Amino acid sequence: MVGAVGFEPTTSWSRTKRATKLRYAPPTRVRQRCARRRAIANSFGRKDLRPPLRRTPFAVLATGGALRENGFMNAVVDATLPDAHGRFGVYGGRYVPETLMHPLQQLEEEYARAEQDPEFQRELTYYLRQFCGRPTPLYLAERLTRELGGPKIYLKREDLLHTGAHKINNAMGQILLARRMGKTRVIAETGAGQHGVAAATVAAMFGLKCVVYMGEVDCRRQELNVYRMKMLGAEVVSVTAGQKTLKEAVNEAMRDWVTNVRHTHYILGTAYGAHPYPMMVRNFQRIIGDEARRQILEQEERLPDLLVACVGGGSNAIGLFYPFLQDASVRMLGIEAGGEGIIPERHAARFQGGSLGVLQGARSYILQDEQGQIQLTHSVSAGLDYAAVGPEHAWLRDQHRVEYSYATDEQALAAFGALARLEGIIPALESAHAIAAVMERAPKMPRDQVIIVNLSGRGDKDVAQVAARMKL
Ligand SMILES: Cc1ncc(COP(=O)(O)O)c(C=O)c1O
Repeated sequence: MVGAVGFEPTTSWSRTKRATKLRYAPPTRVRQRCARRRAIANSFGRKDLRPPLRRTPFAVLATGGALRENGFMNAVVDATLPDAHGRFGVYGGRYVPETLMHPLQQLEEEYARAEQDPEFQRELTYYLRQFCGRPTPLYLAERLTRELGGPKIYLKREDLLHTGAHKINNAMGQILLARRMGKTRVIAETGAGQHGVAAATVAAMFGLKCVVYMGEVDCRRQELNVYRMKMLGAEVVSVTAGQKTLKEAVNEAMRDWVTNVRHTHYILGTAYGAHPYPMMVRNFQRIIGDEARRQILEQEERLPDLLVACVGGGSNAIGLFYPFLQDASVRMLGIEAGGEGIIPERHAARFQGGSLGVLQGARSYILQDEQGQIQLTHSVSAGLDYAAVGPEHAWLRDQHRVEYSYATDEQALAAFGALARLEGIIPALESAHAIAAVMERAPKMPRDQVIIVNLSGRGDKDVAQVAARMKL
């Protein structure tokens, strides 16, 4: 009924008073706003659940100003990392064969120049807006909020971006870099296929050759995205080694890069790998948090109490968290894939069963056995099914700045269904892990708090898999 209320008379507009009141009637738009507010508050029995209409004065929006006055600007962690060697404390670094040291240095230098180049920033901003569809909305999930009976829950709608996930933010940044460096070919690894689709999309757009490596198991469970990549003109190489998922796809991509580095750029899809990738991907993804910060200050006139995001390699989570790291009042929760429970080889929650090690270019938390052999992993969601976690996350956990937990396959599937039925949004299975955590935590939190959860992608790619599991 909410859609219709703007046109209905409210109680104070009863017939007897109508004639006199009409003379002083506020403009139609204002009347409609008031009616909508009342109707929504009534329909939920919660006055705090009003559509966010207030606009915040410009001064409050500027980072620093009003926030410093409110005492929020405590420097809780050092947001200037990584250091010159690409380290976040003991994590990160650059652990690669000698042949890749030079291209990584070149990439680091070119990225540093691009970051300072107003023309590069202008071009990136232009394509993010006009091609990808930024800014994405920060949407108050009214029915989910009411159902859980806790804080207001806002969804950062990265699922509405072109290609259907946050991955395009980073792919766009890296393709512009590749062009600056004169590369004619790009390669990418992909798990859920969303990064592969994003890389294939930007490659098509700028006319570069594109090869995407994807594990055979992932090709099967994310078939829709394989077709999309092929339609976009990319070559998809199905990787049959080992576990046939993301780790093996990264190995193949690195092999290709070593061989073809002169004309090829490797568009790595998450905040992992050798320096400068974790830093560079974070910086391309921080637009999520920058926007969310501005939007929540506009809509609620305050900072959120809790940020929640799923963590595969960690790019959507660090993208949301990073611009809030200095805000002591904002808690953060990263959700890994708990698979079938924390049993070796049946999950991908690196902070639950992992230990310090080196994998695919970086030092971080890794699922490995006593001999340092990488363990098998499992998750219902291909995008979270990886044995290592981004080094900055490992460091943030050590600093007690971000809390990390996990959601099981069953919890994620339940959250997938709940969001679809309550909000009319089918989330990616990866994002459903974050929703599952919100469903568990929100009922225990005070109602006057605010949660932002990153809806990193949409679930079209997962529909066939979930339908088969649910025997639809
Ligand atoms: C929709 C979606 N969300 C999240 C992820 C996890 O990646 P990251 O941790 O880098 O955000 C993926 C990975 O494929 C994804 O497709």
